[in-house]
Amino acid sequence: MNPPTATAPASVLGRVPARDRLALALDVPDRDAAMALVERFGADFGVMKVGLELFLAEGPGVVRDIVSAGSRVFLDLKLHDIPNTVEHAARCAGELGVWLLTLHTQGGPDMLAAGASGLSDGAADANPSAEVPIALGVTVLTSDADAPSEVLTSRARLAEQAGCGGVVCAAPDLPVVTNTVPGMLRVVPGIRPAGAPSADQRRVATPASALAAGADVLVIGRAVTAAPDPDAAAAAIVAEVAAALGSP
Ligand code: C5P
Repeated sequence: MNPPTATAPASVLGRVPARDRLALALDVPDRDAAMALVERFGADFGVMKVGLELFLAEGPGVVRDIVSAGSRVFLDLKLHDIPNTVEHAARCAGELGVWLLTLHTQGGPDMLAAGASGLSDGAADANPSAEVPIALGVTVLTSDADAPSEVLTSRARLAEQAGCGGVVCAAPDLPVVTNTVPGMLRVVPGIRPAGAPSADQRRVATPASALAAGADVLVIGRAVTAAPDPDAAAAAIVAEVAAALGSP
């Protein structure tokens, strides 16, 4: 076990560089735009998030291309269907080589368990020596300011019991999530550097404050991609994260 840093609590990822704690949301309409972001920001963001828009536009080929470019992929499809369907879909994601895959906790324990096992089975079958992927239970959407707090605890616990390795939660939920499921990977969207517009996100936090509250991976989209100067925005975020981690 690596020692905790002086400035941020220990992560379930251990003491890794800032790059491994940063996921860039590729919320763009096509492969060319996505691969341009991978090329431009891949040195700073070790994880590339493929969401509904890009996946529906380009299909699994874009995931393969990003993996081939050397990035970990976070496939954010928030699967929510009957267990058999989710298991087979998650197996396909595992075969593609994704690192993270979201399942919606509202789908219940059987669906979550089916998704988690499908993901790991698909990965093991496709490449037995590859990194073990992690199924993430989505707790409460960060755009939802009115979600009752009691659902958070029960959904986090449900995800853990069903075999998910992590959760997606908003930064203000981190203390509850960390207490409830301390061993799970905490992936946190709704990140906004000081002064950046929050847009449709309602429960936001700065990179440093999210890390201080226990985030393992920060998901960042428009704060970089829609910034007036995306390179400067990315560099400022990397510097803030590195300082918070006490790492390069
Ligand atoms: O542009 P922004 O940084 O707000 O993007 C956040 C990303 O995180 C989006 O791709 C969104 O789909 C995703 N996300 C989220 N809230 C969740 C799960 C994922 O905002 N609970």
